[in-house]
Amino acid sequence: MTQLKPLIAANWKMNGDKALIAEFSTAFTTDKVNGIDIIVCPPSIYLDEFSSQVASNNSAIAVGAQNLSDKESGAFTGEISAAMLQQVNCNFAIVGHSERRSLFGETPQFVASKYATALANNITPILCTGESEQQREDEQTFTVIAQDIDAVIERSGIESFKDGIIAYEPVWAIGTGKSATPEQAQDVHAFIRKHLAKHDEEVAAGVRILYGGSVNENNAAELFKQKDINGALVGGASLVVDKFMAICQNA
Ligand code: PGA
Repeated sequence: MTQLKPLIAANWKMNGDKALIAEFSTAFTTDKVNGIDIIVCPPSIYLDEFSSQVASNNSAIAVGAQNLSDKESGAFTGEISAAMLQQVNCNFAIVGHSERRSLFGETPQFVASKYATALANNITPILCTGESEQQREDEQTFTVIAQDIDAVIERSGIESFKDGIIAYEPVWAIGTGKSATPEQAQDVHAFIRKHLAKHDEEVAAGVRILYGGSVNENNAAELFKQKDINGALVGGASLVVDKFMAICQNA
């Protein structure tokens, strides 16, 4: 398999402010972080300013959204459309983060429709999937993940993973300080690739699969050594320049 370019994505969730945006825009210059892709997803209200700042600071950062509407436009109070994201040079969007699934009731089909809307507007979707602690105990991990991926295949076809990114994020590892072990993560990443390969081997080999869930500057290197781990989606540790920089440099 050809080596896929590592990708480190930051999910700030409902954290950060204008000062943090200024700090990140100037810290991640292209000479400091070479040969990897970096995406930072701040709260949507900061996307426009962040985009302008990274453009004027020779930054290696690409800007991403944490969510988007599955609708193109219309009477959807509080929502943000893909076209609006495009206008502020936001070319990536996380879809189906476990917090959106559990706190905001997003189903696999609804997430798949967001994934489709992103693609239709030239925004690269980062599809999150992962099992809860109970589901892992019940040996439902692969079933849950297959369901999320199959919903996308049904809606947009296997080819859609040529232009998408997948993030495996076990719910029990998110924000808990208890990362999956490199072996546990590799197991699931290999499953995801095999599952996609049933439809199309080339697509399966080419899709970047990120690991997320308590990734930090100390455990990143071991995770990145795994064959099917092509990067990380980082929450808590992405809010501190030095920590996030160390994770990026480990990739
Ligand atoms: P965490 O969050 O790194 O704080 O565990 C990851 C995520 O939710 O994307």
